[in-house]
Amino acid sequence: MKVGVLTGGGDCPGLNAVIRSVVRKGVQEYAFDFVGLRDGWLGALQGKVVPLGIPNVRGILPRGGTILGSSRTNPFKHEDGLQRVQDTLSEYDVDALVVIGGEDTLGVAAELSRQGINLVGVPKTIDNDVPGTDYTFGFDTAVGIATEAIDRLHTTAESHMRALVVEVMGRHSGWIALHAGIAGGANAILIPERPFDIDQVCDYVKSRFKINYAPIVVVAEGAVPQEGQMRVKDETLDEFGHVRLSGIGEWLAREITERTGSDARTTVLGHVQRGGTPSAFDRWLATRFGLHAIEAVKDGDFGTMVALRGTQIVRLPLADVTAETKKVDPSLYDEFEVFFG
Ligand code: F6P
Repeated sequence: MKVGVLTGGGDCPGLNAVIRSVVRKGVQEYAFDFVGLRDGWLGALQGKVVPLGIPNVRGILPRGGTILGSSRTNPFKHEDGLQRVQDTLSEYDVDALVVIGGEDTLGVAAELSRQGINLVGVPKTIDNDVPGTDYTFGFDTAVGIATEAIDRLHTTAESHMRALVVEVMGRHSGWIALHAGIAGGANAILIPERPFDIDQVCDYVKSRFKINYAPIVVVAEGAVPQEGQMRVKDETLDEFGHVRLSGIGEWLAREITERTGSDARTTVLGHVQRGGTPSAFDRWLATRFGLHAIEAVKDGDFGTMVALRGTQIVRLPLADVTAETKKVDPSLYDEFEVFFG
């Protein structure tokens, strides 16, 4: 059997650990051959196929990014996309694919699977918003980076008695904001699932200053104020129709300064949350996902995605996990109310 591997969407720490794990088990236990498709679905469209053997995956476990490259290409937005993907797979005698991606890449995988392509999905994203799995790999690393940033911001905020706003990633869901905000002791955490009241945020800021502490406000990039629209710097869309976010943090700092009279500044963590070496937990989860994904290929259990449930890795139909993103449960958010303000 020849298996193609691709990584699509925004990169995240742990992608290389999955690739290594898939190839190691596939070659050593099942005598499969592998190829890599470069740059996500773009490689499948354009026939960008590279060798992928054990020598190619040596030493990549702790490396961030992806040795296969990634893109946000949607083959269904390209003329004859399906046919071109099928042509690439038959030209290179690829029998099955392991598709490592988030909501968009796996959405394409679900559709290709319906069209008869043999594939198994592996959920990745720092956002932790793929349904069906308790966690995606990449999330733990991103939360660790954001938490360290918040820890550092506390000391400089207190030295200058100013409010600091920390904008973290999370377009549709506030998982990073909530986990890092709680771990870092933030005074307000604003997430896309719950439109915020700017007056309440300013009250939190003021009450914090009153007891001689400098407030830290953590905001997910997709958070929106109750009465207004999402603030974006750049309104261009990618092939999956997503706007390029960033801007809510700056808007918040401006509003806080104007409404409270206290100095507020913004730190946008951006892609630093996605770069660098994966945490031990992400390496562990990515490795397990890889092992189970190649086992699903061996079993011919196509059209599925591997997922973490408790401590078990399970297989779920891709069609069930690509319809919408996984949101922060309101009751989980409310648990932390006591820490706000
Ligand atoms: O999907 C992961 C993610 O990091 C989101 O949190 C963020 O909105 C987006 O990717 C940014 O994408 P890009 O790197 O393409 O700008």
